[in-house]
Amino acid sequence: MGKIILTGDRPTGKLHLGHYIGSLRRRVLLQNAGDYERMFVFMADVQALTDNADNPEKIRQNIIEVALDYLSCGLDPQKCTLFIQSQIPELAELTTYLSNLISVSRVQRNPTVKTEIKMRNFEANLPLGFFCYPVSQAADITAFKATTVPAGEDQEPMLEVTRELVRRFNQTYGEVLVEPNILLPEQAVCRRLPGTDGKEKMSKSLGNCIYLSDDAATVWKKVKKMSNGEPRMSMEEPGHLEGNAVFTYLEAFSTDEDFAEFWPEFENLEALKQQYVQGGIGDGTCKKFLNSVINKMLDPIRTRRHECEQDIPEIFNILKKGSEAARETAAKTMDEVRSAMQINYFDDQELIRQQVEKFSK
Ligand code: TRP
Repeated sequence: MGKIILTGDRPTGKLHLGHYIGSLRRRVLLQNAGDYERMFVFMADVQALTDNADNPEKIRQNIIEVALDYLSCGLDPQKCTLFIQSQIPELAELTTYLSNLISVSRVQRNPTVKTEIKMRNFEANLPLGFFCYPVSQAADITAFKATTVPAGEDQEPMLEVTRELVRRFNQTYGEVLVEPNILLPEQAVCRRLPGTDGKEKMSKSLGNCIYLSDDAATVWKKVKKMSNGEPRMSMEEPGHLEGNAVFTYLEAFSTDEDFAEFWPEFENLEALKQQYVQGGIGDGTCKKFLNSVINKMLDPIRTRRHECEQDIPEIFNILKKGSEAARETAAKTMDEVRSAMQINYFDDQELIRQQVEKFSK
């Protein structure tokens, strides 16, 4: 059996550089390499609602923003199925059955869920649906029999839960579901991009994002304010690389070609770093270079976004077609799930025969 690639995002905001470097860029490469049987990318609106139950309008508005981000980065509906989670009711059904195969304490140990609960100050008011989202995520993955999930490292605990549930399901009811693997970004720096403030993670709630849809002036405003770690009195002093978000971003985004084009004095990032730690390189110059690197990368994305924005009904059409195709696949898996669980009463001739016999005695 070939590879089945699946991944998704919560539509709670526009996508940013952290999403791009952590997963989106890789998805497009995977899509174009063509080494898979099917590829699915979806908007996890059901998951987004687990901590936004009182604000469905936010999710509704961001469906189109995320779809535009996907298409403008190069995801191609001819090659990959783009869909919306809530349009596949089979996922909710599978979630229900999987939730019988895992304990509350197992979910409580999930480090990503733990961090998120703390971040949201849920304490006593933790929504049950939010707590259970790792199980719902396992359903998203297994309903499509995905083998490969490109995602950031914060998703690893979800994949662990998914693999456990697959093993439990298959042992209990028979081999139906498939154990998936996470596909992490190759470079460590891409696994968790810090925010422009140098904080641990780029995140909308921390207000430290550069969005894929930011225009050049906005990017420059944000880059100019970026954290350089320890302050220096003058550019002649040795620079510090630890906690220096500008260099972390250069690590993530700059290529040797960028140096040739925008800063030919240096052959590559290694050469710049060597000089920077000795002193004599101004932080402003580094930021100007980073700004050029980011804008060069975002320019074609902006152009495509602008094109896509001209035909919004077509975007909804793409998502509708994708959701229909995805539903067909999930429905097939659910037929197998129901017969493995022996709850396919009306297709089960043996059950009818047995019951006839039992009651004719
Ligand atoms: N939890 C993911 C996020 O927060 C979104 C998601 C939902 C997902 N279901 C998934 C990712 C299945 C990969 C596979 O970004």
